[in-house]
Amino acid sequence: MDNRLFFPATQRNKKYIGDILSRILYKKGSILEIGSGSGEHAIEFQKRFPEIIWQTSDPELEHRKSIKSWIDKNSLNIKMPKPLAIDVTIEPWQLPSNILNSLLGIISINMIHIAPWNCTKSLFKSSSKLLNNDKFLMLYGPFKIKNKHISQSNELFDKSLKIQNKNWGVRNLDAVNEEARVNGFFENELIEMPANNFSIIYRKIQHKLK
Ligand SMILES: C[S@@+](CC[C@H](N)C(=O)[O-])C[C@H]1O[C@@H](n2cnc3c(N)ncnc32)[C@H](O)[C@@H]1O
Repeated sequence: MDNRLFFPATQRNKKYIGDILSRILYKKGSILEIGSGSGEHAIEFQKRFPEIIWQTSDPELEHRKSIKSWIDKNSLNIKMPKPLAIDVTIEPWQLPSNILNSLLGIISINMIHIAPWNCTKSLFKSSSKLLNNDKFLMLYGPFKIKNKHISQSNELFDKSLKIQNKNWGVRNLDAVNEEARVNGFFENELIEMPANNFSIIYRKIQHKLK
């Protein structure tokens, strides 16, 4: 059965996100992706970084089916584990031991604004338990800077999110960084991305990026 979903934004941003990853993925290990959605990013990054084991996850069954179909269609079943049913708010996250023992970092793309604020809090809290030293948590998405939208399109997007769910919305970077701080992380790098997005790399220790 082909259960693949197609999320158009992934095709536009996957190269740019991959370019950031290419600067921080320089050794063998595993990456945990939170809120993998369709699975299109995972396939792209697994192919681009063959030394990595890309562990996908999503709480939505429809999304996990899509991820599995993308893995199958790309003949990556031997390399890539099945998607996990991680909901960030349900602790503890259950990870296979090989992933846990080789974990280099956690990435979440376009999740925290399309989920209630407590998901951001849970993301940092559980990530903090899994990531020490120079392991990273990378977020990608739109953010408000000093509580202001950086573009009119982000402002309109924020409004449309709040119409769908009053608990969703483009997050203020200062508030996200505060959550990082209380969980022992600091903003290691903030990178402006195309289409008014940012990539943010959090770590617990200072780390020079390549
Ligand atoms: C806008 S989609 C982004 C999907 C994918 N990362 C991308 O960029 O195409 C947001 C994703 O976050 C997931 N999500 C929502 N609430 C979540 C939660 N509590 N824990 C983990 N993932 C969640 C959704 O199921 C969905 O797949």
